Amino acid sequence: MNSSEVTIHPVMLVGAGPGDPDLLTVKAHRLLGEVDVIVYDRLVAKPILSLIPETTERVFAGKRASNHYMPQEDINNLLVDLARVGKRVMRLKGGDPFVFGRGGEEALHLVRNGIPFEVVPGITSSAGCAAYAGIPLTHRGLAQGVRFVTGHSKSDEPLTLDWRSLADPETTLVVYMGMANVKEISQKLIENGLSDQTPVAVINMGTRPQQKTLVSTLTALPETVASSDIKGATLFVIGRVVTLADELAWFAEAAGA
Ligand SMILES: C[S@@+](CC[C@H](N)C(=O)[O-])C[C@H]1O[C@@H](n2cnc3c(N)ncnc32)[C@H](O)[C@@H]1O
Repeated sequence: MNSSEVTIHPVMLVGAGPGDPDLLTVKAHRLLGEVDVIVYDRLVAKPILSLIPETTERVFAGKRASNHYMPQEDINNLLVDLARVGKRVMRLKGGDPFVFGRGGEEALHLVRNGIPFEVVPGITSSAGCAAYAGIPLTHRGLAQGVRFVTGHSKSDEPLTLDWRSLADPETTLVVYMGMANVKEISQKLIENGLSDQTPVAVINMGTRPQQKTLVSTLTALPETVASSDIKGATLFVIGRVVTLADELAWFAEAAGA
């Protein structure tokens, strides 16, 4: 077949949510059975991968914060190449593709190379983890809003966050990818005026059977993390709403830390 006869299908940029397969959208679930190839990340939970038909091609493009298995540029090019040979392609990402997921970069690369795309949002991990930990991200009298930031910086470089505006007791702060910089996060928020007794929830592997939530304070946060054995996807919820976690706990978490 000559390349002009190839039908190009839109690449589907799909959010898989934070882990619990029941949190997949109906659309994401349907598409899993309709595409030819799925390019997926490390954060996509195994029970979700097990929903992929055996005949569907899978490409692992997983990455860790400091150890990229497949460089972003290669992922971008792979999506274009797969679409150009006429495959129905799904790019499956943990959480939501447009929240710290580099989905925007992939979409730009596709559109700039003449490949159509669609986005299927997923439940971002902050929403999923907070809900499963019994923490409303906003709550009358406790938090008027919520901010999502990344706590990841290029190796050995300090974080370039606007600490003064983040140190706001009226707003819940959710830090994605903050484990490596936990000391700096705690110290900068305190230096910029947030009470050192501000409650913090460290939520690990949220929405999954092994979910663990450690409740700490801003000043004790680095020690809480250091003395725990948590590994893998973790985020911090910082703010007064964390005080509700005890009373609103509904999800059976794994024991211990
Ligand atoms: C590269 S970001 C991807 C975020 C994703 N696009 C989203 O919307 O949730 C990866 C970070 O998300 C957070 N994360 C993702 N899934 C999580 C989970 N199940 N439990 C706790 N944190 C999670 C962690 O902070 C992790 O380091």
